[in-house]
Amino acid sequence: MKEAIERIMAELADLKAATQKEAEEARVRFLGKKGEVTALMEQFRSIAPELKREYGQKLNELKKYTQAKIEELKAAADASAVASGAPKEDLSMPGDAFPLGSRHPVSIVRQQIVDIFRKFGYDVAEGPEIEDDYHVFEALNFPPNHPAREMQDTFFVSTGHVNPLLLRTHTSSVQVRTMETQDVPIRVVCPGRVFRNEAISARAHCIFHQVEGLYIDKDVTFADLKQAILLFAREMFGPDTQIRMRPSYFPFTEPSAEVDVSCNICKGKGCNICKGTGWLEIMGCGMVDPNVLKASGIDPSKYSGFAFGMGVERIAMLKWQVNDLRHYFENDMRFLSEFATATEV
Ligand code: PHE
Repeated sequence: MKEAIERIMAELADLKAATQKEAEEARVRFLGKKGEVTALMEQFRSIAPELKREYGQKLNELKKYTQAKIEELKAAADASAVASGAPKEDLSMPGDAFPLGSRHPVSIVRQQIVDIFRKFGYDVAEGPEIEDDYHVFEALNFPPNHPAREMQDTFFVSTGHVNPLLLRTHTSSVQVRTMETQDVPIRVVCPGRVFRNEAISARAHCIFHQVEGLYIDKDVTFADLKQAILLFAREMFGPDTQIRMRPSYFPFTEPSAEVDVSCNICKGKGCNICKGTGWLEIMGCGMVDPNVLKASGIDPSKYSGFAFGMGVERIAMLKWQVNDLRHYFENDMRFLSEFATATEV
């Protein structure tokens, strides 16, 4: 046994390993289940009791030395691999997946609304968020000091002169700009952010998103409006969706209406989302007031049109049955990640 220990010690002293693989082979050769050092430890069990003390110590030293030597070989192999530029990592290991972000639910729904109208032949128009009074109110038949301006509490950027700057309260301002610059026929949707000086609650926010639409041509009638909205509602909420229109008031449309869709959750029977009515309000609409056409240089005796406008968050709330608008603005990852795979609602 003594010779065996000495031989192994001598061998270990000269041992070299160029790579991790060789170092591992050395470990198996000496310390593996059938390794040489392991075999000596087994033999030790059956040697004469009076030799146990001496050999026990020697064997322990041998084992420690072997372990240290193998560690040393592994470290040296690593260092030489790095020095030679060879990758130390195991390139066959599977990679760690990056946590990918996803689109915001409001963006998803806004895009769906826009895509539906694009299919119907509408263009997309955009305009400034900081607007002037003329494009947000005046050209849309809100006379100065008209009480209808109070329907939309406004954030003013500058006050005191004839045409103050303000944050647009609706994207109807983009429709005015489109009528000013494009020839009839006009068919546009105007997606964008709008601002209203309202207290933040589960149902209202001071910033939200709209998609408004405008269609002007010869002989456009209320029947066309109704058909366009019905087709939109069926694309958005499913083929069985019904709509109903209730008379309403907007300064820029006459006649005006609010549109409800049949509740797609209870199928019209009445549930807590539709508050038992079977209907959900989704947008305002109407025939463009002749004064509005005139203000933008379009002859109302030749042309007519319809307009509509909806809140994107509201549509998203209805589609996903989210009962608090504030979720859309708080950027809580637990909420947002629910929509990671939502391309279709
Ligand atoms: N501009 C209106 C709003 O913001 C919506 C609307 C647009 C209503 C077009 C009728 C026609 O509330």
